[in-house]
Amino acid sequence: MPVNLNGKSALVTGAAHGIGLAIARELAARGASVWVLDLERERPAEIAATIGAAGVAADVTDRESLGQAFSVLPALDIVVANAGTAIVAPLEETTASVWDRTIALNLSGLFHTVQLAAASMKPRRSGAIVLMASTNSYDGEPHLSAYNASKAGVLGILHTAANELGPWQIRVNAVNPGLIRTRLTQAAFDNEGVLKDYFRHVPLGRGGQPEEVARAVAFLASEEASFITGATLLVDGGQMAGKFGTWSEETASFQTDHWRLR
Ligand SMILES: NC(=O)c1ccc[n+]([C@@H]2O[C@H](COP(=O)([O-])OP(=O)(O)OC[C@H]3O[C@@H](n4cnc5c(N)ncnc54)[C@H](O)[C@@H]3O)[C@@H](O)[C@H]2O)c1
Repeated sequence: MPVNLNGKSALVTGAAHGIGLAIARELAARGASVWVLDLERERPAEIAATIGAAGVAADVTDRESLGQAFSVLPALDIVVANAGTAIVAPLEETTASVWDRTIALNLSGLFHTVQLAAASMKPRRSGAIVLMASTNSYDGEPHLSAYNASKAGVLGILHTAANELGPWQIRVNAVNPGLIRTRLTQAAFDNEGVLKDYFRHVPLGRGGQPEEVARAVAFLASEEASFITGATLLVDGGQMAGKFGTWSEETASFQTDHWRLR
């Protein structure tokens, strides 16, 4: 059955670009009234207008700014806590500032979003919250210590929130994408050598598109997932199952951005 979100109100944070924008577009296409929340400088209202949504400017790291944004919205059925970033630096060169900025956005910002979502949903005793985790919630990918710690922390919020909000019939789930093509990962996608090595360990032999994550989020946000809470859904082409290296030159070749059997 196709995912139907008619009559639902939805907020997506960090939705002016990349995965967040794809999620906002997907939820709107499924019938939801969508609010695109992003930093004022990213012009969320303008971007929202292009996908039939509304925009709201706020900084998720600033509790007051985020609280103000929620206060002008109607009661929400769906909240997607997506805003996040990754700053690449070896462990010993990860400055206090890089650490603090990453935790403030990926973990504290997500925490504020979940708290405000719960307050919006509790009076109606229903709702669906989807958190943006990552394969890095589990993996120690080098040069991403702050990012990996923040995304592991997202699972702590996931499990606790699912536990506490279940009695209000508010479901809380997470998606864990692998490498997805956005501006955040453009440098990797511009480097064929990096992709070849990375995707050697991905059973489907390629990276993902934001729309492929968005469809998983729409499912978890919908009634199709009515008995699912506290769950994580990998959207990674099998990466977490592919530790031993799926692809080799003996049987396959790498072309531009994907492996293919010969
Ligand atoms: N791209 C990937 O491969 C990948 C993989 C796994 C998880 N993720 C996660 O997906 C999410 C989106 O990543 P993306 O690749 O689309 O990145 P992106 O940079 O394209 O988009 C991030 C969005 O968040 C917004 N944002 C940043 N700081 C904000 C703040 N303080 N308040 C409100 N909005 C803010 C940005 O303006 C932007 O619109 C992140 O949480 C990221 O960690 C991405």
